Amino acid sequence: MAPRTTSHGQCHVDPSTVAALQRRVFDWYAANGRDLPWRRTTDPYAILVSEIMLQQTQVPRVIPKYAGFLAAYPRLEDLAKAPLDEVLRLWKGLGYNNRGRRLRDCAAVVAAGGRGELPRSFDGLRALPGVGPYTARAVLVFAHNDDVAAVDANVRRVLTHELGLPAGLGDGELQRVAEGVLPHGRSRDWHNALMDYGALVLTARATGLAPRTRQGAFEGSRRWYRSRLLQALLDDGPQRLDQLALALEVTPDVVAALTDLLSRDGLVRREGDCVQVA
Ligand code: ADE
Repeated sequence: MAPRTTSHGQCHVDPSTVAALQRRVFDWYAANGRDLPWRRTTDPYAILVSEIMLQQTQVPRVIPKYAGFLAAYPRLEDLAKAPLDEVLRLWKGLGYNNRGRRLRDCAAVVAAGGRGELPRSFDGLRALPGVGPYTARAVLVFAHNDDVAAVDANVRRVLTHELGLPAGLGDGELQRVAEGVLPHGRSRDWHNALMDYGALVLTARATGLAPRTRQGAFEGSRRWYRSRLLQALLDDGPQRLDQLALALEVTPDVVAALTDLLSRDGLVRREGDCVQVA
């Protein structure tokens, strides 16, 4: 049944619809669920690593990187002490180097607090570098099985399609619907099931529900040049602007502008004409 819209403009999903959705998704998951490496742990740090990697990067690309990263930094304290260039070398292939830097910073902030453990609350997690509302809830769900709803693009698509919700429903309202259909006590399994159902069955193509933000072309984009500049520094060490200009086949002015952007993000450092990883 389609959701009723109340006089306050909120979607109401009736209990029999909720029960049918839960049964359908769990039945499908019991037969078809994926065995993903981050589902074999409840360590909040490992879960955080997986969630940061999974932001904007596909599961098959994340799997080997996740293993390599945790082999290098098995505990949060190990990552907290790691030099940025080493972290970014391990990050190679995931894209969005900022995420790698923020993850390292996040570990450093927690370690400096002396606890060595990630906060147990939404607000505590949310206050850390690189941890947004989705990621904070995902840690609570996958590490602690807390009864909170974590809505990523897959979960949004599944709920929108299965419950007949308006495609552009606001984040707040969707969050409320997701909380309303959550089977209490089974949050971890439920989210794994929803994410698999969204990734393997109710894909964007199958549902006609496009992601709300789509990446533009990478090659030739500013993000592409930034990534190449950083990679040149990781591969060959500190360099002058004119050397980088030759390597990237752009003018030194362009290198200076890119360096500016990267240093604002804390990824590189410029001293005079020389640039290096921060
Ligand atoms: N995307 C984000 N988190 C995920 C998870 N835990 N499993 C599969 N895909 C995901």
